Amino acid sequence: MATTNKRLVILFSGNGSNMENIIHKLHHKEFVVNGNIMKVDIVACVSNNKEAFGIQRAKNLNIDCLIVPHKDFATREDFETTLIEKITPLKPDLIVLAGFMRILSPLFVSVFKSINIHPSLLPKFKGANAIQESFDSSDREVGVSAHWVNEELDSGAMIMQAKRIRDMDEDFEYFSSKIHELEYELYPQAILKALN
Ligand code: GRF
Repeated sequence: MATTNKRLVILFSGNGSNMENIIHKLHHKEFVVNGNIMKVDIVACVSNNKEAFGIQRAKNLNIDCLIVPHKDFATREDFETTLIEKITPLKPDLIVLAGFMRILSPLFVSVFKSINIHPSLLPKFKGANAIQESFDSSDREVGVSAHWVNEELDSGAMIMQAKRIRDMDEDFEYFSSKIHELEYELYPQAILKALN
């Protein structure tokens, strides 16, 4: 069987638990997809926030972590131009957004195929408060979405979703922990699907 190497770059802004989970589940591992062997390498992580806890997680896992603070740039275009300059030599097959809290413009999205994980059943609850809004809603069916990134926030084509039925008397802490469990289960699978 032929082996193809797939190179991933992960972008994050804060805690980095999804990034760590992806590294544990995919980095330097081989998967059989459609009769071919696919080997995944996380070639680097990038944070736009120099205080992000995830930077230490990446270091502990021996993954290069570039820090490109968006605050150092006057415009979104300048920030993304530098991101593109730093990421291009890494030759990624896919950019994986994992808690990356900046909207990417067509400038970036037209250069790299990128995917994102979002903690709601899109198109419901787009934006940064999805877990709270989903918790506050009357929806019993809740979940997470892995989708392609386009220039519109949380709006690209769906790759996969994972769902659960909640008890309406769950507290917020429990609710959030179950959302994150779904993310950790779904996102590595969605990445392999996207790479294919
Ligand atoms: C996750 O809930 C993800 O869905 C959202 O941001 C959060 C990031 O958490 N986009 P972490 O940094 O991976 O712990």
